[in-house]
Amino acid sequence: MKIAILGAGAMGCLYGGTLAEAGHEVVLIDVWKEHVEALNTSGLQIEEPDRIRRIENIRAVTHPSETGAVELVIVFVKATLTEQAAREAFCLVGEETMVLTLQNGLGNVEKLNSVMGLSHVIAGTTGHGSTLLGPGRIRHAGTGETVIGEQSGGRSERIAALASTFNHAGIATKISENVMGLIWTKLIVNVGINALTAVTGMRNGQLVDYPETESLMRAAIDEACAVARSKGICFEVADPFEHTRNIAKKTAENRSSMLQDVMAKRRTEISVINGAIVELGEKLGIAVPVNAVLTKLITVREKTYNLSDGAA
Ligand code: PAF
Repeated sequence: MKIAILGAGAMGCLYGGTLAEAGHEVVLIDVWKEHVEALNTSGLQIEEPDRIRRIENIRAVTHPSETGAVELVIVFVKATLTEQAAREAFCLVGEETMVLTLQNGLGNVEKLNSVMGLSHVIAGTTGHGSTLLGPGRIRHAGTGETVIGEQSGGRSERIAALASTFNHAGIATKISENVMGLIWTKLIVNVGINALTAVTGMRNGQLVDYPETESLMRAAIDEACAVARSKGICFEVADPFEHTRNIAKKTAENRSSMLQDVMAKRRTEISVINGAIVELGEKLGIAVPVNAVLTKLITVREKTYNLSDGAA
């Protein structure tokens, strides 16, 4: 299968590398020139607890215009860049192209629909944890399930074929017939883990080792669940807090994507995770104080990246 990965960060490289290793024709697309050069000259290195995988048969480019239409686009850019990236990547989409978003946060599906066209867009979530170590190198720090689904529900032929392609490549994948529930279930995980790890500097697993962070995680999740319930969202799991706890444990050694962003002084996805809960909570008249505090703390962190250590 011809596959383009839009956004070759830690997760884009993990999926792209794994699919290339299984024999698919993969092109990674990323604006970071040094990373693209390293991928083209030395391939991709994926560090795992028990082995190091080297993937040589992978191509990387800095702009979608350097490659033609593909059968599958997997979108892994930061949620804050989805619309712009989609516009630039429109040239990747042919009549039958599937565009799969496995990004964090709310609003990605809607943005992709408006640029790529609703019939092309498939939604999904990933429970994997991965860290970008440097140009051409990532660490796969925790395995989890991939779940994908058609926006209209049901089990189409293409979604079954895609799940089977992923499973054959070693990416354990299930199909969901409840895409909004799926996206909200993942959102809850990010609401519980990402900002708290970014504020405290903890790895995912440490959050549940301390009663203070665990209770904040529960409070942030309870608020998000109240918002979801009032929107009629049906979760994919019975207990969203327990589910998040399990993912924190399974990806214990991983630094969440938001902690990685803060450490690298990059813009975070706070506005489409905890910030989205605050916005909806305010609209719906639901109290969301813990999410409001987390959103403000991360926002001010972003604003002070450029102050000297003493001043910040
Ligand atoms: O954003 C992330 O880092 C991931 O979605 C997750 C599951 C929290 C693992 O680190």
